[in-house]
Amino acid sequence: MKVYMRAIVYHTYGSPDVLELKEVEKPTPKDDEVLVKVQAASVNALDWHLLSADIFLVRLNSGLTKPKRQILGADIAGKVEAVGQNVKQLRPGDDVFGDIFDSGLGGFAEYVCTREDALVPKPANLSFEEAAAVPVAALTALQGLRNKGQVRPGQKVLINGASGGVGTFAVQIAKALGAEVTAVCSTRNVDMARSLGADQMIDYTKEDFTNKGQQYDLILAVNGYHPIVAYKRALRPNGRYVMTGGNMAQFGQAVLLGPLISLTGSQKMGNFMAKANRHDLLVLKELVEAGKVKPVIDGRYPLSETAEAMRYLGAGHAQGKVIINVDEHNYIPLKTTSRTPA
Ligand SMILES: NC(=O)c1ccc[n+]([C@@H]2O[C@H](COP(=O)([O-])OP(=O)(O)OC[C@H]3O[C@@H](n4cnc5c(N)ncnc54)[C@H](OP(=O)(O)O)[C@@H]3O)[C@@H](O)[C@H]2O)c1
Repeated sequence: MKVYMRAIVYHTYGSPDVLELKEVEKPTPKDDEVLVKVQAASVNALDWHLLSADIFLVRLNSGLTKPKRQILGADIAGKVEAVGQNVKQLRPGDDVFGDIFDSGLGGFAEYVCTREDALVPKPANLSFEEAAAVPVAALTALQGLRNKGQVRPGQKVLINGASGGVGTFAVQIAKALGAEVTAVCSTRNVDMARSLGADQMIDYTKEDFTNKGQQYDLILAVNGYHPIVAYKRALRPNGRYVMTGGNMAQFGQAVLLGPLISLTGSQKMGNFMAKANRHDLLVLKELVEAGKVKPVIDGRYPLSETAEAMRYLGAGHAQGKVIINVDEHNYIPLKTTSRTPA
């Protein structure tokens, strides 16, 4: 007998208007898969790109004329309901969180099947909602700072775009890695950046950090735009510029000019794509459980209002992460805001 679940599906690229709440068949785990009862998910820019196909590359990977995968959602937290016969590390009843992008997405649904290596035990001190905020954004911040940025204790690090999903994790992780952190954000987010541990805040609506004469060992460009030559000016000799996000011009310059600049001088400049792995999820779990990193949650939406959550994210002014509460029995009212880490 077929069993059904609720999910947010889309059959055509477009705005959040194309997202529909539907009853679809509940998945069954293959031998190497885990079936998770999703309690919470969070929305990311990648969901936006896969929904809208605003970047042509999306169509090459995800379907030229229509999406091959109909349920979005990479960040999940939930409870393992069943496991395939080859699954070794997880058991029914385990509370887990993870980034399921590489195993096919599907987090905006009551159940999802995914590979076990996409999941790790949920941090004991986080709710499901808080845990769902972590994977994609915090992995991006961690890998951008530590792997590509090679940050070391005592170094001066600037985060441009410190107030969104990635930026709020980047400030905290850079501090946890021993850096002196400058957060660039707008006026309304200055207090939040301070509360996350930033040593200095620069309000980008009032000052352009690339013209202040200050130089940094590492600049993590998370949002906004500055010409790559301006970023270069604000880098110390041997400094690193890591572009994880921002507008298309910022991306294009990092991809095309970054490698040339890196070849001709002591500074290293370029873009960076995060890649989920179990080891780094466990690093994040430890940082969270040690109280060094705490997700900042901007708003919460029930599964049925995922389109609204996507619209909010797409407007580009989220303060931390935007959560989808899939288990609506535990739903806390819409847009409850907690901007400072407890
Ligand atoms: N490379 C990767 O693997 C990877 C992974 C995840 C995300 N990303 C990319 O990273 C970027 C950020 O992702 P996210 O999840 O952090 O986005 P987000 O949560 O939507 O970021 C929104 C935040 O950015 C701030 N912001 C907007 N314009 C700004 C500007 N000019 N200067 C500084 N801050 C500005 C906004 O604050 P105000 O409006 O108040 O300024 C808001 O708090 C996106 O481009 C995304 O595609 C890349």
